[in-house]
Amino acid sequence: MFKAIQIEKTDDGQTVSLKELDENSLPEGDVTIDVAYSTLNFKDGLAITGSSPVVRTWPMVPGIDLAGTVRDSSHGDYKAGDKVVLNGWGVGETHWGGLSQVARLKGDWLVPLPRAFSEKQAMAIGTAGYTAALCVDALIDAGIAPDQGPVLVTGATGGVGSVAIALLKAAGFQVHALTGKTQEAEYLKKLGADDIVDRATMSEKGKPLQKEIWAGVVDTAGSYTLANACAQTKYGGAVASCGLAQGFDLPVTVMPFILRGVRLLGVDSVMAPKERRLKAWDRLGRDLDTSKLEAIGQEIGLADAIDAAGKFMSGDVKGRYIVDVNA
Ligand SMILES: NC(=O)c1ccc[n+]([C@@H]2O[C@H](COP(=O)([O-])OP(=O)(O)OC[C@H]3O[C@@H](n4cnc5c(N)ncnc54)[C@H](OP(=O)(O)O)[C@@H]3O)[C@@H](O)[C@H]2O)c1
Repeated sequence: MFKAIQIEKTDDGQTVSLKELDENSLPEGDVTIDVAYSTLNFKDGLAITGSSPVVRTWPMVPGIDLAGTVRDSSHGDYKAGDKVVLNGWGVGETHWGGLSQVARLKGDWLVPLPRAFSEKQAMAIGTAGYTAALCVDALIDAGIAPDQGPVLVTGATGGVGSVAIALLKAAGFQVHALTGKTQEAEYLKKLGADDIVDRATMSEKGKPLQKEIWAGVVDTAGSYTLANACAQTKYGGAVASCGLAQGFDLPVTVMPFILRGVRLLGVDSVMAPKERRLKAWDRLGRDLDTSKLEAIGQEIGLADAIDAAGKFMSGDVKGRYIVDVNA
């Protein structure tokens, strides 16, 4: 038997509870993992609160991330005792996820735990931090360099934003942090932000072309924030779009793209191929100062994850919740 959070479908919606489950009920997979830590992401908040149809098979164990030790494996790349990390691949949506003491998954979905991190640190990073690394890779691969001007990170106090700030600073950029929590300026500066921008200045409809400020942008907000970010991006700059914290709409004109050659780069973490994952985790292992993870992550137990997930919906979360599934 093992403990897991389980979401069950009911006639009027769903119920979420901490359950004792039988290992015979685990889904198919070629690797069984003793999970040490999971974490909470925006998507887990949506799944656990039922505020968006994230869960597609029932019952579901949520948790799009996990770090742990392989217990059994029939996959050629992994053997018992190996430390591994899982991000995405529909885990916690269509396949039982990481908010559980045991998980059974496809070995092809796993990456080895980077040597730089403990399991707990890898989950302080989680999908949010790994997505931040994908965004930074996307900007740098698009030729954006520190001598071209400052970069903007939106949703700065969130999981993606916090890690993006730290990685961009480590890569030599001048980083401006857009936040609705200007009282968190000290936290953002410790992560590496050079300047703080009030979220309200970019959250309403703006002009199609605005003063050119940013060489690059990591956007977690979508909607007007992303539209204004595109309108403020310098000639030849690039905007990495990964989130929808403000909204999934994009009320932009083509002007930044056709008059300034601005590029909009879509970033997806869920189905990203393995080589892109390994490159992102390499960047995290190389550039992320593990002492910064202390500020980003707060640890909670498995049972606390249900309440904590609701906080994502209010936009009140600073940094990341790390879930000790054995506490
Ligand atoms: N593409 C992918 O594969 C991928 C992967 C991971 C996450 N995401 C998406 O990326 C986004 C951020 O994820 P996360 O884990 O960092 O979430 P998070 O920890 O909840 O952070 C989101 C942040 O967005 C800001 N925010 C909240 N409401 C906003 C609004 N109305 N307008 C503008 N900003 C707002 C807040 O930061 P401030 O108070 O500092 O402004 C909040 O902390 C989410 O939409 C998530 O779904 C996508």
